[in-house]
Amino acid sequence: MAEKSFKYVILGGGVSAGYAAREFAKQGVKPGELAIISKEAVAPYERPALSKAYLFPEGTARLPGFHVCVGSGGERLLPEWYKEKGIELILSTEIVRADIASKTLLSATGLIFKYQILVIATGSTVSITSLTSIRSKHCLCCFFLRTLPLFQVLRLTDFGVEGADAKNIFYLREIDDADKLVEAIKAKKNGKAVVVGGGYIGLELSAALKINNIDVSMVYPEPWCMPRLFTADIAAFYEGYYANKGIKIIKGTVAVGFTTNADGEVKEVKLKDGRTLEADIVVVGVGGRPLISLFKGQVAENKGGIETDDFFKTSADDVYAVGDVATFPMKLYREMRRVEHVDHARKSAEQAVKTIMATEGGKTVTGYDYLPYFYSRAFDLSWQFYGDNVGDTVLFGDNDLASATHKFGTYWIKDGKVVGVFLESGTPEENKAIAKVARVQPSVESLDVLKNEGLSFASKI
Ligand code: FDA
Ligand code: NAD
Repeated sequence: MAEKSFKYVILGGGVSAGYAAREFAKQGVKPGELAIISKEAVAPYERPALSKAYLFPEGTARLPGFHVCVGSGGERLLPEWYKEKGIELILSTEIVRADIASKTLLSATGLIFKYQILVIATGSTVSITSLTSIRSKHCLCCFFLRTLPLFQVLRLTDFGVEGADAKNIFYLREIDDADKLVEAIKAKKNGKAVVVGGGYIGLELSAALKINNIDVSMVYPEPWCMPRLFTADIAAFYEGYYANKGIKIIKGTVAVGFTTNADGEVKEVKLKDGRTLEADIVVVGVGGRPLISLFKGQVAENKGGIETDDFFKTSADDVYAVGDVATFPMKLYREMRRVEHVDHARKSAEQAVKTIMATEGGKTVTGYDYLPYFYSRAFDLSWQFYGDNVGDTVLFGDNDLASATHKFGTYWIKDGKVVGVFLESGTPEENKAIAKVARVQPSVESLDVLKNEGLSFASKI
């Protein structure tokens, strides 16, 4: 069997891998020492583009335009960059077994990779558990879940959801998924789409499909969209905005099956409440799941991810975990957390590499002290959130759908301190100000004061 050996291996070729490679290069990695192994066929890119400009009919994003690190205003790392630095990009290569004791990875085609230091950056895969949970508690799904190969991506078809193998049902995680969706949008011009899920993918994809002149219905079980972060008030604004754009929103129910036409293409989505929706395209976005199964029983786990310290070291010697898969100490909240967002993917990768290189040089670095930062963009809207969404909330600003500007936001207040801030349509300065508030956690006299001062409270901090 072919075998290759590297001093450092990054497993996964997504956002964290790209930012880790840049940091390795900055820290003087030598040619031949570092390899990135990825099942994707392309060099690391800024994944957020896939649910936004990649799908737009105008101003379309295509590679090589959005290779890392352009998303944070950095240098664009083209495949040639890796060559110049002597970093081996091993693409279209899926690792199917990892043995930490012997420091060995095995690919689906039988290649063996040896490493001295491993950085796990396998990210997430699409989740379907919430869709299956609506079925009988004693259904076949649970049996399949236990018996499926550990590394296999889970889709509706794995659980016997009726019609789930129909053509034109899409999930969005990698560039190949986005390419298939783009083809379907072209083939089903002016057609109908049902978007299953009211989270990040649901909101961003509904907007992208609508911009492509597709008739869109969104379906989700909760009383309002993005319940992981949005309050009812925040959600009401976005739901109203989407409705004004002609997007139909169906809440409080779930998709339970699909019918197909003679070509095997999806034709209808069956809902649990008995309704059916016509559909030429279905996009499913019902959550992510960290890809850690290769390492089951070999590293400590916590909250569904691989447990790390604040340098992203795992419980196993010489093994680091970064990005979506890492459950790390969030110092600010004295709690172990996992974060599925790009800002953390970039920063955790840099932290791990700085630690690796400093340790080798007998030096130390300071531990990770992360301020949660999430954002989204859809239509002409753009919001940012910093901090923690716990405690009481205060809505401020102008959330009137009829207004020309939509500058509004929400403060979260816990134990008399502002711990989180959301802002729609903020300027770069205003976004900087809300980030500072979330970091400093200023005390507030009363919720009324915050309500009256609105954004000017943040600008004073
Ligand atoms: P990432 O998913 O980027 O990379 C994982 C890599 O590992 C992939 O290349 C995968 O193929 C590879 N891999 C996995 N298993 C493997 C194996 N066994 N063998 C070989 N390779 C393997 N966040 C945000 O803050 N703002 C945003 O706007 C968006 N938008 C967005 C859109 C879409 C469509 C998605 C799917 C996600 C986002 N996100 C986001 C989330 C953000 O992109 C995500 O948190 C980071 O990409 C995580 O980076 P990682 O490097 O951890 O995983
Ligand atoms: P999500 O967790 O944001 O949303 C999942 C949604 O699925 C829930 O809000 C719920 O409405 C819905 N849902 C659950 N069960 C359902 C059911 N049975 N039927 C219908 N709807 C159901 O996850 P996502 O939107 O799928 O995103 C996947 C990953 O991609 C996440 O890691 C996310 O952070 C990432 N992502 C992030 C961004 C961003 O940060 N702007 C953008 C796109 C994707």
